[in-house]
Amino acid sequence: MSSISGFYKMNVDERRAFLKKLGYLTDEDIQSLSSGGLEISLADRMIENVIGLISYPLGVATNFLVNGKDVLVPMSLEEPSVVAAASKAAKIARSGGGFMAEADEPVMIGTIQFVEIKDPNEAVHRVMEQRDNIKRMANEMLPEIIKKAGGFEGFDLKVLYTDAGEMLELYFYVHVLDAMGANTIDTVAEGLAPYIADLVKGRYLLRILSNYAVKRMARARAKFPVEELGKDGDRVAMDLIYAYNLAKADVFRAVTHNKGIMNGIIAVANAINNDTRAIEAGAHSYASRSGKYQPLTDYRIEGKYVVGQIELPLQVATVGGSVGLNRVNKIALKLMGNPTSKELAEIMASVGLAQNFAAMLALVTEGIQKGHMKLHARSLALSAGAKLEEVDAVANRMVELNSITFDTAKKVIEEIRNKGSR
Ligand code: HMG
Repeated sequence: MSSISGFYKMNVDERRAFLKKLGYLTDEDIQSLSSGGLEISLADRMIENVIGLISYPLGVATNFLVNGKDVLVPMSLEEPSVVAAASKAAKIARSGGGFMAEADEPVMIGTIQFVEIKDPNEAVHRVMEQRDNIKRMANEMLPEIIKKAGGFEGFDLKVLYTDAGEMLELYFYVHVLDAMGANTIDTVAEGLAPYIADLVKGRYLLRILSNYAVKRMARARAKFPVEELGKDGDRVAMDLIYAYNLAKADVFRAVTHNKGIMNGIIAVANAINNDTRAIEAGAHSYASRSGKYQPLTDYRIEGKYVVGQIELPLQVATVGGSVGLNRVNKIALKLMGNPTSKELAEIMASVGLAQNFAAMLALVTEGIQKGHMKLHARSLALSAGAKLEEVDAVANRMVELNSITFDTAKKVIEEIRNKGSR
């Protein structure tokens, strides 16, 4: 069950107890959620020169129905209103049947660069002749993946004419199962390079995966009923189309439009220790594939619905790398029903679409300040020095004053404290 009306009105303990009752959390999970889930000794082995830990809030977006399945979406980030926005759009999408999503098989791309080749065309020919041998060699490097029906899926070669002369690039493809695949790809790249360098009679140089993960695309689609868009639903629907077309026409808007999408996707990635830099790099380069930076979503009106779609590469993992090093990652995966990497990509694409729709809906109706800034007011109150028990009163007063700034927060705190001491 993910349609939980008023989840946000509960306090933290009530939310945990509610999820425990539904079977999503155990007492041990609740303990990990309180501690942040990562030991300093483990952290010291994750990165270098460790001196401590830093925590982010973990929230749960409600209302997601993805391919007919209820999903609770764990989201971790510092920004207010993102979880609320995703939940709101998911609620609207739900009344149109939820998100229909699909993702490609998890195939990652590796690249090997060859330089100082006398005859690149002849080199291409020689490598192609050894196609089967190369596949066999690569698969010998992937015993565990082969056992589970993944493995090497072939390669292509390209002669490149660069400012430093002609060079050859080999692209190869590996089905990496539920991992992100970086280590697998790099192992194969380094393993194959010497043999292929001999074939091309040149020298190998870079051997690394490509984060332009276009063989690992995810797509989601949702029908947002016009009648759920407020009193003036038809007007709002048309305004959403105007808003989308601005993003199509203008890079200044498109970048912000896509940033809103990544608000959702990266928040899920954070909750499960996925490589957010890889996801961002892949998404933004895909947005530029035509030579013009474009929105990753598109919208049109179909009868009584605004139909939204998203398509982007998602190199995401449910195992391997740092996934699971933090105990909270496992809880986050459990909340989503322990998806495969393919299902995870489908959920994340849906969250990206939801996030984008909610932001656009706010922008074309009340503006971003009202919803986002109302929630942002609480963070501002905290950073201006409000005590926990003062935060809501300070935030509400800032909304009343229609001035959600750090200075106002300071003044309001003073005002509230003066009143209290009288
Ligand atoms: P609202 O109209 O007050 O919400 O929206 P509602 O009262 O109609 O509630 C509908 C549902 O939303 C609720 O269902 C909740 O699921 C959820 P219910 O539980 O009542 O059955 N919901 C909440 N969930 C958690 N905490 C809450 C909460 N309120 C509602 N406090 C909302 C309020 C903030 C959702 C809306 O104004 C909104 O979506 N605003 C957009 C916020 C946003 O996009 N934030 C991202 C940060 S801004 C940014 O970086 C991106 C941007 O630049 C991208 C772009 O330009 O495209 C904007």
